[in-house]
Amino acid sequence: MKDNGRDLAGIGYVVLAVDVGAVEKGSGAATSSTELADEQGLAKLWAAVRWLKRRPDVQPDRIGVVGWAGQGAPALALAAATPMQACAICDTEGELDPALVARLHGTPVFAALAGKENAGLKNLPAFRQALLAAGNPQKILVSEGARAGFMEPSAKAYAHNVAERAWVELYEFLGKYVEDAPTSPTAVQPFAGSLPHQKGVATIADIMRAVNSPTGLLGALDLSLDQAPGNQRQWDRVRAQAALVAESSRLLQALQPQRGPEVQWQEQTRAFARAARTLVAAADERNYDAVRRGLRSLRSRCQGCHRLYR
Ligand code: HEC
Repeated sequence: MKDNGRDLAGIGYVVLAVDVGAVEKGSGAATSSTELADEQGLAKLWAAVRWLKRRPDVQPDRIGVVGWAGQGAPALALAAATPMQACAICDTEGELDPALVARLHGTPVFAALAGKENAGLKNLPAFRQALLAAGNPQKILVSEGARAGFMEPSAKAYAHNVAERAWVELYEFLGKYVEDAPTSPTAVQPFAGSLPHQKGVATIADIMRAVNSPTGLLGALDLSLDQAPGNQRQWDRVRAQAALVAESSRLLQALQPQRGPEVQWQEQTRAFARAARTLVAAADERNYDAVRRGLRSLRSRCQGCHRLYR
């Protein structure tokens, strides 16, 4: 779990890893000890959210919870108990309780689940249906060939490619619902007002050719990542390329496409910027897997924008 937390922190989230397992067991006189443990665990998680929301480096209206393996159910319970922007459960075997959905108050739900020998899938159709009926955005991946433990590198069932895909989807989901959650109207647009006096010379097509095409920066970045960078200079290079790709999205944001709906341009360029920033953060961490993942996630954004604007 610590490594998972580190991955998320690596792309810029403040991460608090809570050890819910370590609750004191009561005497169990009135309730069963597991119920009591559940309650104490939830109280702990709730306190953790309150604590997070008060921190100066945390945006209190951009909080998500991610539960791995056995912590999927507590993650859902927490999202039901306190408002937050997203709830994600990864590689969980337990049953997903459709009755809980009513208490989720529209919270977007992500799940990446093993498709093989997973008794928890029994309730999945009802769970999805309940989310749909209640209007909760949902992204649920069931990986057919994967068994419990597929996202845990030390587990026997670990499935690298399937896990990577789940991570990319998780990043996307958190980016969309937590990072880009609507804020109070006074908040400034992160990129608004840059380059106030200059009129740019680059067109959208210029940026695509010089940055995104195979012979541009992104192609160069691809080459740099053929193998894991072996020293600081190579990492610096990867970082520099990723950083310029990220900056290019600011330029895109300030430009007007020749066709397509005006309103979604900002959304598309922001999503691209977000994916590029993830890539830079991964380069700063010198995390080869995360950089590759970031690049894949970035590439998954090209088509959506082209469909609308090219
Ligand atoms: C935010 C929207 C957006 C994203 C994201 C985006 N593109 Fe584009 N792309 C465009 C638009 C708009 C054009 C058409 C530009 C024009 O002809 O004026 C274009 C054109 C292109 C062209 C043709 C340029 C030429 O020579 O005419 C290439 C190549 C290209 N994009 C590659 C990519 C790749 C690769 C990615 C992803 C890594 C990507 N684009 C992501 C909007 C986008």
